Amino acid sequence: MKGLKFDFSNVFQPNLETGLTEEEINENVDKIKEIVEHIVESKPGFLSLPFTRVYIDRVLDLKTWVQSFESVVVLGIGGSALGNQALQTSLNPLNYNVLPKEIRKTPKIFILDNVDPDFIAANLDQIDPRTTLFNVISKSGTTAEAMANYLVARGIIESYGLDPKDHFLFTTDPEKGILRKIADEEGIRSLDIPPQIGGRFSVLTPVGLLSALASGIDIIDLYNGAKDMHQRVVNPNVWENPAALNALVHYIYYQKGYNMSVMLAYSNKLFLLADWYRQLWAESIGKKYNLKGEVVNVGQTPIKALGTTDQHSQVQLYNEGPYDKVITFLQLENFQRNIVIPKIHSDLPELSYLGGKNLSTLLNTELAGTEYALTQNNRPNLKIIFPQINPYNIGQFLFAYEFQTAVMGMLLEINPYDQPGVELGKKVTYALMNRKGYEDLKQEVEDKLQNKKKVQL
Ligand code: PA5
Repeated sequence: MKGLKFDFSNVFQPNLETGLTEEEINENVDKIKEIVEHIVESKPGFLSLPFTRVYIDRVLDLKTWVQSFESVVVLGIGGSALGNQALQTSLNPLNYNVLPKEIRKTPKIFILDNVDPDFIAANLDQIDPRTTLFNVISKSGTTAEAMANYLVARGIIESYGLDPKDHFLFTTDPEKGILRKIADEEGIRSLDIPPQIGGRFSVLTPVGLLSALASGIDIIDLYNGAKDMHQRVVNPNVWENPAALNALVHYIYYQKGYNMSVMLAYSNKLFLLADWYRQLWAESIGKKYNLKGEVVNVGQTPIKALGTTDQHSQVQLYNEGPYDKVITFLQLENFQRNIVIPKIHSDLPELSYLGGKNLSTLLNTELAGTEYALTQNNRPNLKIIFPQINPYNIGQFLFAYEFQTAVMGMLLEINPYDQPGVELGKKVTYALMNRKGYEDLKQEVEDKLQNKKKVQL
């Protein structure tokens, strides 16, 4: 089969002594059928994306212009940055930005998703504003971090006497928000984020496509992967639908107290897929209210981990700590580079067993060792197998997880597409930064903070 394989063997009995039974899945066959059909009928924005050419074509129109820059800097946060990072890290060499121009050929890519001045300054030190394109991404056009970084970048462009029209590209809502207004007024080029697609589901919109294209990633193949995965995930039969089965497995374990979901990537290039997943799962599933408005406070904490690195940091806990984690391995079968360990010290058994073997063999053998140990210790674990890393397989992964998240939302009877829990913190920031319209909130917050008991050592 082309594309990703999903191996659920180690969440089930008899492989896992205390694992799920097939009956537990069979009991939910009708429920999953109903959920999958409902998702297909309700047409969440992300679902039809792989069959849409409009965003790809719009981005492709800008290809020559975008690739004429030395650097492309993405200014965005959350769903407006994590997909970009996942695509860049998985599909470009890990040393992409430091490769010589003759090899790299396409612009360097920087993704600035924080307002830490040390981080921003260190990145800005690496670019020449005269040959840089800033892609400001914000669906709402109100997010303080993205807006602050836009102002910083614009200040730099203006200080060089450059025309912002030649150095900015906005990716935002087609009608609403301040970025749209500025784009319209000043003739700054812009790309649309479909209004019906939320930030964390937007990687396959111009949000993720532009920087991917800028660095030469085949965005059409990314869509091809998503399109083929679409066929698999709209299958109402849970036993044939990897996204639905994965959601159901996580749901059943969640009901049994497994309130954490670890994504353990045995590949540095796949590691930031786990970062993207972390936001998708956390913001979509972590909810106070269910669809009936009752307080439920549900959620499964997503954790990202890297093999083998975290075998020396986390795996002790995963094997012997509380029974509260479902572990998902990301396994890569064929690496892009290969390093053979030299046969040195052939007289020393502590080293000689390594000589002549590939590093990738060691890495995947360590995965097998960890998988075996977790299973022996009765820790549910499953595996997503990438035959290789390419845009097709990454498109498959992204789409499968978006659908899985929608299924999990329905199993938990919550709305996976909103994020009311981040609003208060955002508003308080506006108030404390003296944003107009937030004066009453500022007063309220300051009063509360003043009367707060301090326990500070
Ligand atoms: O998933 C989401 O909706 C959020 O994480 C947003 O992507 C994030 O808050 C950034 O929002 P915006 O694109 O409006 O700046």
